[in-house]
Amino acid sequence: MKFNFMSFFSNEIAIDLGTANTLVYVKGQGIVIREPSVVAISRSDRKVIAIGKQAREMMGKTHDEIEVIRPMRDGVIDDDEVAELMIRSFIRRVQHNRLVRPRVIVCVPSGVTKSEKRVIRDSAEYAGAREVHLIAEPMAAALGVNLPVKEPVGSMIVDIGGGTTEIAILSLSGIVTMHSIRTAGDEMDDSIAQFIRRNYNLLIGERMAEWIKCNVGSAMPLPEEINLTAKGRDLVSGMPKAVEISSEEIREALADPLTQIVTAVREALEKSPPELSADIRDRGIILTGGGALLKGLDIRLREETNLPVNIAEDPLTCVVRGTGMVLEDLDTYSSLLLHNN
Ligand SMILES: Nc1ncnc2c1ncn2[C@@H]1O[C@H](COP(=O)(O)OP(=O)(O)O)[C@@H](O)[C@H]1O
Ligand SMILES: [Mg+2]
Repeated sequence: MKFNFMSFFSNEIAIDLGTANTLVYVKGQGIVIREPSVVAISRSDRKVIAIGKQAREMMGKTHDEIEVIRPMRDGVIDDDEVAELMIRSFIRRVQHNRLVRPRVIVCVPSGVTKSEKRVIRDSAEYAGAREVHLIAEPMAAALGVNLPVKEPVGSMIVDIGGGTTEIAILSLSGIVTMHSIRTAGDEMDDSIAQFIRRNYNLLIGERMAEWIKCNVGSAMPLPEEINLTAKGRDLVSGMPKAVEISSEEIREALADPLTQIVTAVREALEKSPPELSADIRDRGIILTGGGALLKGLDIRLREETNLPVNIAEDPLTCVVRGTGMVLEDLDTYSSLLLHNN
């Protein structure tokens, strides 16, 4: 996107506050921040030591004085105080001109409670925002993939993030049915870690588990099954150890969380109004969020639902791009914002 001189002063900001990643879009500039939603703080004085990538690199490698926190852990705000520090820090990072207070639109998981919305609003205001709007994640995702959200046509979005899978049917600027489950990327990582622990007596960290998932994880048999080396600590000897693991084994490890996601999608379809079901039958399901990248997940969902399933282009940025669209054209999209709470 072309650099726009006026937007440099206007400071309008869209934020996708995800459980795994936070993305920030500045009006006229596009996506300017893309960082893990992780904060490292010092235990003694609760001061921030690092935020984002740098904090994530410290995960599982800290000493007693440093605590690494994921404030948005399960699709809700797990730690108010740290969430606030993170939101403030990201806003300040893109705020070039402190004299002009920014307008901020934050995209939130649709399961957040009223008091969590309050925390988000307060943090943004504390960071200097003059105006704070909220938008529900599936709505932003739908905009980001260019679905006709204002028309009387049913669209189905399945967003698989870190903490939650959000399944929504949208039509006429609103969410018709919404289903959010706390099974998504993190749960897959946990299942992989547990599987390796049970079968190999090997204790692996959260980041190793995620790395395995992204590299050999799958929801369907692969054309060519692959192996990789998992590294961790032997539970018996306490020594560092490495074992060879196959993609078939990791698929077995992922069976439970994947069944939960598939079941939730089927349930959402069963509950959808008949007229919209017909639309979805024709138009299919769109997958967004990082979990959409799990190998074979689209095929698995296609087989289980008999519907067309498509992975959004660049699934990790759909939500922030959708939120950015609202920011760029608030007149057109203001009806999509969450109101008075
Ligand atoms: N190639 C991949 N295969 C499977 N999962 C992936 C892949 N890339 C990213 N993920 C997972 O996607 C999740 C993050 O997605 P994201 O949409 O950013 O979540 P959130 O909106 O909750 O912040 C993480 O659990 C991450 O491990
Ligand atoms: Mg998300």
